[in-house]
Amino acid sequence: MESSTRTAVVTGGASGIGRSVCEHLAAQGHRIGVADANAEASEKLVAELRSAGAEAVAVEVDVADSAAITTALGTVREAFGPIEILVTSAALGGFTPFEEITLDDFNRYVAVNLTGTFLCIQGVLPDMVSAGWGRIVTISSAAGQTGAVNQGHYATTKGGVIALTKTVALEYAARGITVNTIPPFVADTPMLRGQQEAKKLPPEKILSRAIPMGRLGSGDDIAAMCAFLCTDAAGYVTGQVIGVNGGAVV
Ligand SMILES: NC(=O)c1ccc[n+]([C@@H]2O[C@H](COP(=O)([O-])OP(=O)(O)OC[C@H]3O[C@@H](n4cnc5c(N)ncnc54)[C@H](O)[C@@H]3O)[C@@H](O)[C@H]2O)c1
Repeated sequence: MESSTRTAVVTGGASGIGRSVCEHLAAQGHRIGVADANAEASEKLVAELRSAGAEAVAVEVDVADSAAITTALGTVREAFGPIEILVTSAALGGFTPFEEITLDDFNRYVAVNLTGTFLCIQGVLPDMVSAGWGRIVTISSAAGQTGAVNQGHYATTKGGVIALTKTVALEYAARGITVNTIPPFVADTPMLRGQQEAKKLPPEKILSRAIPMGRLGSGDDIAAMCAFLCTDAAGYVTGQVIGVNGGAVV
């Protein structure tokens, strides 16, 4: 059972996996900064978390914007004190044949998915170093482990997130800070449903056939592991790629 409550920031916290992570961390008693580009959805979630008894604040941010991250993290610190938990779930996802990926598209994926993760981690590490305690969980993707057809931009950034996670884990292992990544395969979220509506991904019945457990993942599946990685009990787990994928990638 977790004893200490901490200040947590969840990027991409307003939707899908990030939203479930906010709910799980709030249920553990942590104070939540919902950091997302979608201010309206963040405010709505914050109202729900508060009515369930949690402390939460919404901060509007584009994680590709270094100055905006500094401001957002500052707002969370002002509200709740130093940040000791970071979960990075904000990302762009999509499918484009390799030869059709424009340089602008590629650069935007790198800026949001990879540079955004880098900037958020750098932004919270000073608090964690001062505390001698920290938990960082990045949400990468199975596409970053295996590659993925028509995801040259996305998969590249997610492979980068995995390498970034391992590297920060090694550099900060002796300072009480753990850094792990969860690479989902297929989780039922607005991002996934958007791709299905755009006919870029097949319907649930067909997707489920690629998953040994025979069903899509849920935000709760991912968030349960994420919340565990943020406990004191998980303090000897760092630098790990922990698949929560129904056996789709083993
Ligand atoms: N759903 C899946 O099947 C799946 C599979 C593999 C990996 N993932 C990863 O899981 C994470 C969460 O995905 P999801 O399915 O919950 O997606 P989602 O689209 O439901 O949620 C993503 C959230 O990120 C926010 N966001 C997007 N760009 C942002 C930016 N520049 N700055 C701040 N916020 C921004 C969006 O507003 C949204 O609230 C992503 O990193 C995604 O790549 C998801």
